[in-house]
Amino acid sequence: TFTPRVFSGIQPSGDLHLGNYLGALKRFADAQDKGVQSIYCMVDLHAITVPQNPADLKRSTRELAAGFIASGVSPEKSILINQSQVPEHAQLAWIFNCVARMGWMGRMTQWKDKAGKNAEAASLGLFAYPALMAADILIYHATHVPVGEDQKQHLELTRDIAAKFNHDYGVDFFPITEPVIEGAATRVMSLRDGAKKMSKSDPSDASRINLTDDADTIAKKIRKAKTDPDALPSEVEGLKDRPEARNLVNIYAGLNDQTVEQVLADHGGQQFGTFKPALAELAVSKIAPISTEMARLMSDVTEIDRLLAHGAEQAREISAPILKKTYEIVGM
Ligand code: ADP
Ligand code: NA
Repeated sequence: TFTPRVFSGIQPSGDLHLGNYLGALKRFADAQDKGVQSIYCMVDLHAITVPQNPADLKRSTRELAAGFIASGVSPEKSILINQSQVPEHAQLAWIFNCVARMGWMGRMTQWKDKAGKNAEAASLGLFAYPALMAADILIYHATHVPVGEDQKQHLELTRDIAAKFNHDYGVDFFPITEPVIEGAATRVMSLRDGAKKMSKSDPSDASRINLTDDADTIAKKIRKAKTDPDALPSEVEGLKDRPEARNLVNIYAGLNDQTVEQVLADHGGQQFGTFKPALAELAVSKIAPISTEMARLMSDVTEIDRLLAHGAEQAREISAPILKKTYEIVGM
């Protein structure tokens, strides 16, 4: 009974990297042509659950928007918004704060990890974070949410909130949203350690390719990526127990819209001395234009601000009636 609709959010907190591109931005861009309405959100309200420098937050939010657009997420095909510009997110979150139970929130592993031993000093917002995430999704009646493995538990909680609201008020108003989990194929690992995810929180800049890296930096990082001394196999089984080799092949496949099998059919038998330059050339051809376009967009932010304001208007056409109806159900 619910029209398919996709929602996904990314926190504006620091540089975007190849993992964000292959695991999120490129997937979003590729999915746009499947005819399902999609809403992509820079979640600045989530970012301030831990302290943020105001000027950095503003810059990161615009840079994230530039990253979305430069990666091919089109403001014409998708709705691109900054969370704080659509007030219905925070308004529905309050209702959900009154639906969700303290015990549910206390069991979230991200809360336990982030609050650590000093939960007394954590912000109330950090504790309530999953109720805001539920509101981000359900304010659009989104049916599908592409998420990383680490957000699975929060999406379960979104489903619990929707179900409890529907049950408590005797309605069938909020959908039970399905997660679309990122597969192993789209998980990009560190260039320095095949057992760790590529992440902006890794202190080693050589471990990741940033979307703002120039061509020389991209090529150098790939040349220096950790590998083993063996040639590439021609079958997938040959990548077993070779996490670094597997990662580079995965990256090649992701960037070139190929399967791992196809890449190995073309490059099996090659030494890394041959494969790395091919990968570097491919990565530069795909990532350098994104970096150039991000720099162009960031050189005059009025365009980004205009696009986000337009996105907020489109989003509110969906969110305002859903909030109004929610208030009516609650008796407001
Ligand atoms: P980070 O891990 O660098 O902090 P985020 O947690 O902000 O990145 O993730 C933003 C989006 O990018 C999420 O959809 C997440 O699943 C995806 N993502 C992050 N890192 C990777 C990675 N190494 N491989 C694939 N996808 C990733
Ligand atoms: Na993360």
